[in-house]
Amino acid sequence: MEEVLISRQQIKDKIFELAKQIKLDYQDKKLFLVGILDGSYILMADLSRMLFEQGFSNFEINFIGVSSYANSRESSKNPKITKDLNLDILDKHVLLVEDIVDTGWSLDFVQRLLNERKPASLKTLVLLSKPDRREVKVKLDYLGFEIENKWVEGYGLDTAGLGRGNPDVIQKK
Ligand code: IMP
Ligand code: MG
Repeated sequence: MEEVLISRQQIKDKIFELAKQIKLDYQDKKLFLVGILDGSYILMADLSRMLFEQGFSNFEINFIGVSSYANSRESSKNPKITKDLNLDILDKHVLLVEDIVDTGWSLDFVQRLLNERKPASLKTLVLLSKPDRREVKVKLDYLGFEIENKWVEGYGLDTAGLGRGNPDVIQKK
């Protein structure tokens, strides 16, 4: 069983709001958007186009690959870098872009790693958050939606590799 939890239109409206806020917050700065692979690729595509449409184009895009779940639905609590950034973030304004924060282990790992590289600033945007599942406290600067503790799929999020192309976020029963 599955049902649409967050529709493509709701996501679009939310990204519009987030992009408006980001544009205000970074208006005089160059921004480095860092997406966490694999799940953030669709969010990154939509967010970057929304920023551009609102007249903010002073940004670069880069990706970092992190794997934490392998093929299960439980966090291994031991995230690993599968692909590093290919730019230096020293003194840069970095905005991490992540699809979902669950236990927090993955995001905490990436935030620590990037902070060690001494960016001018590091903020984090996540589309979805499951607050009840949190094991590690992480700082979220821009948040799309808080959701219940249910497995979700679509809009870049997968179940054992599948389902990423669904334009809506669906909930698996
Ligand atoms: P965390 O380390 O437990 O916060 O896990 C974050 C990562 O787990 C995310 O980047 C996702 O790749 C994956 N994840 C967590 N919850 C879900 C879900 O409900 N559906 C799909 N992937 C999820
Ligand atoms: Mg992910």
